Order: sequence, then C-alpha cells, then structure tokens
Amino acid sequence: MLNRLDFLCLTLLHLLQSAVSVKFEVLGPTDPIVAEAGDDIVLPCYLKPNISAENMTVDWLNLDFIDQHVYRYQNGRIIREDQIPSYRGRTSLFKEELMRGNFSLKLTRLQGSDEGQYKCFIKAQSWYDDITVQVQVKAVGSRPVVSVEGHRDGGMGLLCESEGWHPEPELLWLDSKGVSLSDGRPETHRDLKGFYTVRQQVIVQETDTNRFTCRVLQRHINVEVETEVHVPSE
Ligand SMILES: *[C@@H]1O[C@H](CO)[C@@H](O)[C@H](O)[C@H]1NC(C)=O
Ligand SMILES: *[C@@H]1O[C@H](CO)[C@@H](O)[C@H](O)[C@H]1NC(C)=O
Ligand SMILES: *[C@@H]1O[C@H](CO)[C@@H](O)[C@H](O)[C@H]1NC(C)=O
Repeated sequence: MLNRLDFLCLTLLHLLQSAVSVKFEVLGPTDPIVAEAGDDIVLPCYLKPNISAENMTVDWLNLDFIDQHVYRYQNGRIIREDQIPSYRGRTSLFKEELMRGNFSLKLTRLQGSDEGQYKCFIKAQSWYDDITVQVQVKAVGSRPVVSVEGHRDGGMGLLCESEGWHPEPELLWLDSKGVSLSDGRPETHRDLKGFYTVRQQVIVQETDTNRFTCRVLQRHINVEVETEVHVPSE
C-alpha cells in the first residue's frame, strides 16, 4: 500500500522525469499529397513546439518496405545504409529548417513507384512520435500506338499499346459505333519506375467503315486518349 510519503515521492519523480525529457508532437498534412510524375514535392513533417532537431533521429519510411528507409538522419548525419535504392539521389531535408524542428522531406522527380504511405518518425532520447503522409502520383501516358498486324484467324489483327501511366489505366477497342470489341483484360506491364504499359490485340472483321478506335482511359485522374485506325478493305 502507498502511504502519503511514497505518493509524494512518486509524484516528484514523475515531475522530474517530465522536466528532463524532451516532449513534442509531430505534425503533418491530413490530406494526401497528389502530384504529377516528374514533379518535385515536399512531404511536410514538423515538431510542436518547434524545438531543435539536434540529437534526434529522423526516419522517413515507405510503409511498403520493411527494414529499409527512404531517408534517415541521426546525430546530425545522413545515414545512407539501407536506403531504398529507388530513392537514392532524390531525397533531402531542408538544412536551415532542422533547428526549428522542421523535418519536411523533399522528393524530386516523382515516379509511379513513389505512390504510397510514408511515415515520418522522430525520436529523441526518451520520447518519440510519428505521422503518416499519403502520396498519390498521376501520370498521363502516351497516345495509343496502333499497328495492323495482318490477317489472323479469319479477320484482321490489330494491336494497340500505350505506355507511361499511373495509376494503371483501362484499354478499350471500339468499332465505329462505339461498341466494345475487347475480349478480356489487356496485358499490363509495370516498369522499374512504377509506370504502366497496357497492350491489347483484337481480331476485327470487315465493316462498312472499317474504322476502329483504341481508347486508353484512367477514371481516377479523368483522362482518356485514343487513336483511330482505318483498315483498308481488300
Ligand atoms: C546533443 O548532444 C550533445 C552531445 O551529447 C550535447 O552536448 C548537446 O547539448 C545536445 N544538444 C541538445 C539540444 O540536447
Ligand atoms: C517557433 O514558433 C514560434 C511560434 O510559431 C515562432 O514565433 C518562432 O519564431 C519559431 N522559432 C523558430 C526558431 O523558428
Ligand atoms: C518546413 O520547411 C519547408 C521548406 O522550407 C517549408 O516549405 C515549410 O513551410 C516549413 N514548415 C514549417 C511548419 O515551418
């Protein structure tokens, strides 16, 4: 059982601990950061109160990666070991801002693979806090390239391809009346930077117009691009 003296001692101890340990709150944006591929962006992250970052560890993490970081700053130094390779040479903090407790991360030349959830984790000797920042990347791909592949399975083979998208787009083959000719999902390929290429072949029969359209669309970013092809009749 605690007597009054014990209680007083515990209270004093607690007060002493609060006084010596640095306490802070980490703040950041509540809305996702939406940007276009190729842009330079800033992921906000700062302390309240705005105390100096000296002797603190700053970890910027991408939650899709375990055991690797986007950026680490510790004891006044940048730690390059275990940095996720795709972020190499593209990340920095604002040096002059560090003494004001501002750990915002600059990320340059945004690419598709940068989309995701980021954690800004700040640790002092006896205290830590973190926030999560969401990043969304938009990239409008190339106008579809259509090639006529020649006679196939009793019709004419047409191939459509479009590259450089984020997020993954849809691809539709349409006849001149706007009726879909696509059979199944297009083939999708994701490159090292996280951009999508879509490709689909159709076999068409001769029609009165012989005009066909390949349309590539991404509803989330409200974009569509298309290419029309006229197949000469025999
Ligand atoms: C940071 O650490 C060094 C060495 O341990 C110490 O001299 C300095 O006062 C510390 N700075 C802060 C702001 O705590
Ligand atoms: C910290 O924040 C206060 C209030 O917002 C501001 O007046 C002060 O200039 C800031 N300190 C530094 C070092 O930026
Ligand atoms: C942190 O630094 C960045 C880059 O200079 C700046 O844009 C941002 O406004 C700063 N945030 C705060 C809270 O001071």
